[in-house]
Amino acid sequence: MRLPIILIAAVSLSACAIEPAPAWQSGDAEVGHQVAQDLCASCHAIERTGDSPNAAAPPLRRALWNFRPDWLADDLHASRAVSLRRMPVFHFGEGHEYDVVAYLLSIQEDAPPMPPPS
Ligand code: HEC
Repeated sequence: MRLPIILIAAVSLSACAIEPAPAWQSGDAEVGHQVAQDLCASCHAIERTGDSPNAAAPPLRRALWNFRPDWLADDLHASRAVSLRRMPVFHFGEGHEYDVVAYLLSIQEDAPPMPPPS
């Protein structure tokens, strides 16, 4: 009986079309730059150039190479630890976590090419 599956697929596809963008995509990169200055710059390089003050903290222009932006937004939103090691937990109230993620997305460098297979 294939019909119900096809129907369900069609209904959920049309639901996608009218759904608003998820909350984590609602950030303002300019506000996020300010927030990053206030909260992240003591450890991370937050601009497109420069080294991190804390050598263990990757420059934020590379922070999404290994990290999905929606997961980062989720972790920050829920005040969950981004890293289980040396990074503090943040408690955002006003949605600024989404601004930070928008800023991070706006400054990401291209990841280096994959190394050749050995
Ligand atoms: C007290 C220092 C400190 C502050 C402040 C800080 N971080 Fe970090 N962060 C780290 C360190 C150190 C790491 C590397 C992982 C580890 O050792 O915990 C890290 C890792 C990360 C990662 C993971 C990168 C990866 O490749 O795995 C992201 C994303 C990140 N930080 C975002 C942020 C954002 C956004 C802020 C500001 C809201 C921030 N951090 C503030 C120290 C900090």
